[in-house]
Parts: sequence; structure tokens; C-alpha cells
Amino acid sequence: MQQLGTDLARAASVLRSGGLVGMPTETVYGLAANALDEVAVARIFAAKNRPHFDPLIVHLADWNDVDRVAAQVPAEARVLWSALGPAALTYVVPKRPEVPDLVTAGLDHVAVRIPQLDLARQLIASAGVPVAAPSANPFGFVSPTTAQHVADQLAGKVDYILDGGPCAVGLESTIVSWADGGAAVVLRLGGVPLERLRELLGYEPEVRRSSSRPVAPGMLDAHYAPGKPVRLVPHGFDWSSVEPEAGNQYLAWQPGTHGLASLTTNGSGSEGAQRLFAALRDFAASSDRELWMELAPEEGLGRAVNDRLRRAAHRGED
Ligand code: TXA
Ligand code: MG
Repeated sequence: MQQLGTDLARAASVLRSGGLVGMPTETVYGLAANALDEVAVARIFAAKNRPHFDPLIVHLADWNDVDRVAAQVPAEARVLWSALGPAALTYVVPKRPEVPDLVTAGLDHVAVRIPQLDLARQLIASAGVPVAAPSANPFGFVSPTTAQHVADQLAGKVDYILDGGPCAVGLESTIVSWADGGAAVVLRLGGVPLERLRELLGYEPEVRRSSSRPVAPGMLDAHYAPGKPVRLVPHGFDWSSVEPEAGNQYLAWQPGTHGLASLTTNGSGSEGAQRLFAALRDFAASSDRELWMELAPEEGLGRAVNDRLRRAAHRGED
């Protein structure tokens, strides 16, 4: 039977009956299951080979459903929701007891996201349940930004892949947490730029960098690994100082740089974000040995691009 397609009703029925669905969102594809069904959620961890200490984001169709999973919603979360609506933003808030411990890795807070992609919200609404979904890649690897990427990486482990086309944002949601009880803290840079949060919150939230005991394993140093060496050069790097070697790949940030290929056509952070994972994936599939990549400007979505690049390049001593 066809495993990949555009049959929304079928995808919803797979979710209702405890199966796994490759779910399109505006950020990356998720590996979705009914968040209230522990057996279904356990299948996500098995399919991804994901450690159980790594909690999952619960996706909802509408903000009105937030009380189904959240015990309390901080005022600042409401401020962000009113301004942004469905967006590449995840809210970490106190959880209700109905949310299985497996979903939150035993934490008393749950990560909630209402995706911007209409098809994603339609799927969740028609399944009629909150949907737990990590990115649909084996743990530690590059996240999928097309339905085919999901099929390539998780073939045989997912019951149906709903094709919603390529992801418009291209990297994961920004995660904002109120788990400390005080000011908002950013646990992962992502599709909603830090500048936008600063504007809406009236202060710049602390960005908690990775550690050996991460709160969000998206914070792990070595993550998003293409499986081959990636070398980063600063934004604005003088590429003429490098003598290209056959068998390596060189990717500048924008066109017109010493005749090299570039990640973007126009230098914008949003375009870089959209193309990043596919570029890393193409490199992994190529015969090239090493990828040299120029960092993005450290602003807007460029920050999230650089965050993913640094992890992709990390060789993992700490
Ligand atoms: O854009 C996205 O967020 C995508 C799409 C599918 O929605 N999802 C995604 O999920 O990136 P995942 O599992 O690959 O990354 C979610 C991150 C993990 O690093 C996890 O540790 C963190 O969110 N997280 C989930 N629940 C949490 C919680 N209760 N407290 C702190 N961090 C949490
Ligand atoms: Mg992930």
C-alpha cells in the first residue's frame, strides 16, 4: 500500500488508532502519534532510536485546546500567542496530569506548539487528539524538510506520511520556557527570531546554550549530524584565502563569492534556514569528503542557522 500521499482522512485515522504519521509542518516534518496514548508514544521513541530522557512537543490544532494539556498558561505565553498566532514557536508550560510522563520525560512541564501550516492543524483537528511529534529523523541526524526525506530515513517505521510539500521555514521551532517560574528563557533558537521575542516581551530572553545535561536535547552539542566533517568559516570570510581541493565542497553564504556555490540566492536568513537541512543532506549523500560552509550573519533567522551549523560541525568532545 502507498505509504506516502495526501490523504488527510487516512493520516487522521492512523493517529486515532495508535499509529505513526509523518506530519508536515512549516518548520520540519514531525513523527506524530496520539500524545495521550502511551503505547503509540513509545513507538515514536523506538522508531527514532531516541533516548527516553528527551521529551516530546505536543501539537494542538488551536490555542483553545491548550488547557487540555497545560495546567496553567503564563501571561507572557498569552502575549506571544495573541501577537503571533500559529507559528514556529513552542511554549514550555506546567503540564496537566493527563499528559503521560513518557511525553515529558518525567518533567512537570509540557512543550506545546500550534503549527502554522494549515494542513498540520487540519490533521490534528481531524484526529481529535493532541499530537506528540519530534522531528521525523533518527535521533541526532538532520531533520527532514520534505515527505521524501521522511520516507528515506524512516521507511518501514511509519504507518503513513502525509505529504504537505517542502517546509517553508526549514528549521525547527523556537522553544520558550517558563519552567523557571520567572522570565522567559529560550531553550532553542528557531523559526521565530529572537528579535521578535524581544519586541513582544519587552526584554531579551536569556538563550540557554547547550550543556552536558541538556534541558532540551536539541541543545546537545553534537546534533543535526550529516555524518561527515563540516568546517565553518565566519560570515564575510575571505574565500580567496582557501585553495579549493577536489573532493571537498565549499558553500558560501551568498552568490558572487569567488565563483563558489552558495546556500542562499539573496543572502536572507529565512532563505538560508529553508535550504539548510537539504544542503547538509545533499552533502551527506555526495561523495565529497568535507564541507566548508560560511556562517550566516548573526541576526534574525541567521542565528538559528548558525546554531544548527555549529552543532552539525561539532566533533563531540564535551
Ligand atoms: O519545529 C519543531 O519544533 C518540530 C516540529 C515537528 O514541530 N519538532 C521538533 O521536535 O523539533 P524535536 O523533538 O526534534 O525537538 C523538540 C525539543 C527537544 O530538544 C526536546 O528536548 C525539547 O524540545 N522539549 C520537549 N519537551 C520539553 C519540555 N517539557 N521541557 C523542555 N524541553 C522540551
Ligand atoms: Mg529533532
